[in-house]
Amino acid sequence: MKHFLSITDIPDLHQTVQEAIALKNNPYAFEHLGNQKTICLLFFNNSLRTRLSTKKAAIHLGLHVMVMNFGSEGWQLEFADGTTMNHGCSEHIKEAARVVSQFADIVAIRAFAGLVDKKTDEAEMVLSGFLKYASIPVVNMESSVGHPLQALADAITLAEHSTGTQPKVVLSWAPHPKALPHAVANSFIQMMQRQDAEFVITHPKGYELDPKITKDITIVHEQETALENANFVYVKNWSSYQRYGKVLTQDPEWMMTKQKLGKAKFMHCLPVRRNVVVEDAVLDSEQSLCIDQANNRTYAAQIILKKILVP
Ligand code: CP
Repeated sequence: MKHFLSITDIPDLHQTVQEAIALKNNPYAFEHLGNQKTICLLFFNNSLRTRLSTKKAAIHLGLHVMVMNFGSEGWQLEFADGTTMNHGCSEHIKEAARVVSQFADIVAIRAFAGLVDKKTDEAEMVLSGFLKYASIPVVNMESSVGHPLQALADAITLAEHSTGTQPKVVLSWAPHPKALPHAVANSFIQMMQRQDAEFVITHPKGYELDPKITKDITIVHEQETALENANFVYVKNWSSYQRYGKVLTQDPEWMMTKQKLGKAKFMHCLPVRRNVVVEDAVLDSEQSLCIDQANNRTYAAQIILKKILVP
C-alpha cells in the first residue's frame, strides 16, 4: 500500500480485518518493520483516540513517532498556486510537505472539514496538498470527507461481535448542539457497503448525506421503524449536507435510549455527548461497544502502517 486515504484503498476488507485481529493477539510480532523509520503525525484539529491509537500502533511496529499540533503550532499554510503571499499565510504547502518528507518516512494527517463551503471541503486541500508535494506515504487520520481508520476499527468491532450471518446494522443520526462533519458517517457507509449485512440509514428529512455515497442504500426517516430487529446500532450526528454545514434540528426524540436500542449492540466513534446523543443507560450498559471500537483504532492503524511498511 502506498497511501491510505479512504477505506476503499483496502482491496480486501475482510482479509484486512482478520489480519488486524491477528495483530491484536500479538501486537509486537512485526516490531522490526519500523526499525530506524519515523512517522510524523500532524494534527490540524483536536484528537484523543486517533492521536494515542496511531502512536501506539507505530510503537508496536517499532517506528519512531513525531507528533505536531500543526493547527496551533505550525505556520499558517497557503494552498493556492501562484499566490502573492503578502497576507496571513507564512508558508506554502509546497515547502511544508517537502520539508516534512525530509524528516519522516510516513506522514499521517488530521484536517477536518470547515463546513463553510462544500466545494472547498470536498477538494481536501490539506490531504491533497500533502499527497501532491510530499515524497512519502500519506495516511488519513480524518479528513474533510472521510475517517477511514475509524471505519476500519468499526469493521474489526463488527467482526468480533457478530454472532450470526447477515446482521442488521443501522446508522442512526442523533441530535447535537454543534455542526459536525460528515466524515465518520461517510466512511462507515463505504465500509458497510462491503459487508455481508442488512444496512439501513435513518435520519430526519434534510439530513441526507452525499448521494454519491448513499447510492443504493435503504434510508428510512422513521427511526423506530429502522431500528426494528437491529443487531447493531451505530449512532452519529452530522450536519446537513444539502444546506451545507447547517444544524437543522436538535430534536431530542432522536437521542438513542435503552428502550429504542432493544437488544442491539450500540456503537459510536467517540467523543460523545451523554444524554444528548445517547442516554447514560446505553453507554453504561454491556450493550455499548464504543470502548472496544476505541481500542480497535490501534489495530486498524497498525495493519495499515504495516501494509505501508511492507508494500
Ligand atoms: N473517534 C475519533 O477519531 O476520536 P478522536 O477525535 O478523539 O481522535
